[in-house]
Amino acid sequence: MPTPASLINAALAAEVYKAQPEGLYEPIRYTLLGGGKRIRPALMLTAAAIYGAEPEQVMPAAIALETYHNHTLLHDDLMDRADVRHAKPTVWKRWDANTAILSGDTMLLLALRKLTECRCERWDELHRLFLDTFIEVCEGQQYDMNLERRTADDVSIGEYLEMIRLKTSVLVACAAKAGGLIAGAADDECDLLYAFAEKIGLAFQLQDDVLDVWGDPAVFGKANGGDIACGKKTYPLLTALSLAPSDERAELLRLLRPETDSEAARIRRVTAIYDRLGVRALCEEAVRAYYDEARALYDRLPLSEAAKRPLWLWAERLMGREK
Ligand code: IPE
Ligand code: IPE
Ligand code: MG
Ligand code: MG
Ligand code: MG
Repeated sequence: MPTPASLINAALAAEVYKAQPEGLYEPIRYTLLGGGKRIRPALMLTAAAIYGAEPEQVMPAAIALETYHNHTLLHDDLMDRADVRHAKPTVWKRWDANTAILSGDTMLLLALRKLTECRCERWDELHRLFLDTFIEVCEGQQYDMNLERRTADDVSIGEYLEMIRLKTSVLVACAAKAGGLIAGAADDECDLLYAFAEKIGLAFQLQDDVLDVWGDPAVFGKANGGDIACGKKTYPLLTALSLAPSDERAELLRLLRPETDSEAARIRRVTAIYDRLGVRALCEEAVRAYYDEARALYDRLPLSEAAKRPLWLWAERLMGREK
């Protein structure tokens, strides 16, 4: 049986984007056909399937969500000054900033247009869920930038968690709930799907923060240390600050400022402090705790274990992810 990701890749490859103007559409094809794990549309298909929906019923909304996700990546890479994604130059690097803005905007509109192809009884609710979620992602991205400008030691874990819930988690949660809505699941089941995926989304962003520091660039597809270079407030950083003795804490805060040393040296030294403090293992513990919370929500879904199993398998595949 084809996997959800292979169905999504085939559906994306079959999408027809106009050829002209090439400067607008080529970066869109480069992005949408150039890699990506497809975790969100795979979740939507899986959540719908456990309620009996066929992939064809879900595909327009799944492609819409994946197109939207990739729109956020074009803008995010520009905002984060990230040079590499999917082990290739990012759109603003390969082309320029204006291309990332305009091709990115177009992807947002292509996503909304694709959503109109979805035929389901609860389309109004689905549409509203997508729009509310997209606005929340912008709020999360703004908080991410706000925190970037703040001194690290006055940012709380609570503020960080709310920021990642908005920038990352709500879109994963939206995917799961959309699957339920399209398949005609009951309201409380749609809410459980949302809550379950929201926890996985938090774990997913914590893992992303970890991989930003320790991932293998060849597998992860992004360069190491981008978050350190930008002074991002990440789970590893906040954990390190909460553990470090005062001299090391001062050193960490100093190293976050770009003028203190070359980027490579700052990344190397911050990573060495993380390693000395055992930060990676603590982050991995926090990831596991979110998985446990997600599992408890999954257990409450009123379906037989056999029927809902594919949903947990989706989560499990992400657990020890390296990309
Ligand atoms: C990247 O998401 C952005 C984050 C929320 C961390 P993914 O890691 O799902 O990106 P692709 O689609 O697989 O490249
Ligand atoms: C991603 O956060 C959030 C969105 C794209 C909305 P990151 O900035 O950590 O994602 P990566 O690491 O660049 O993929
Ligand atoms: Mg980024
Ligand atoms: Mg970002
Ligand atoms: Mg990241």
